[in-house]
Amino acid sequence: MDEKANVKIFMFDPSKDKEPKYKTYEVEWKGLTVLQVLKHIYENQDAEIAFRCGCNGVGPARCGGCVVEVNGAPVLACQMLATKEMVIKPHRKFTIIKDLVVDFERERGTDA
Ligand code: FES
Repeated sequence: MDEKANVKIFMFDPSKDKEPKYKTYEVEWKGLTVLQVLKHIYENQDAEIAFRCGCNGVGPARCGGCVVEVNGAPVLACQMLATKEMVIKPHRKFTIIKDLVVDFERERGTDA
């Protein structure tokens, strides 16, 4: 019942880091969305991780702000249920601002 997920999160602040790294967290996951898992980590383990949570998936119109890649596939974090093993990265198409937060106005070059 208290089985925890291994969540590996991409961490990178282009303003000060030379290379991206990953941090791994053990968290509750059953029945939670990826966004709820990220919020749980932020509130209980690491307030340094950056991610977007715009509309929280509430309401008929989705903001799209929470888009990330989970295990290599682009997803809306507020819509996808968490799984026991997750590698969470920023969407590969856009320039990274910090960690999972990307600049939707700027597509990423070939440097990242
Ligand atoms: S937070 Fe708005 S679509 Fe996920």
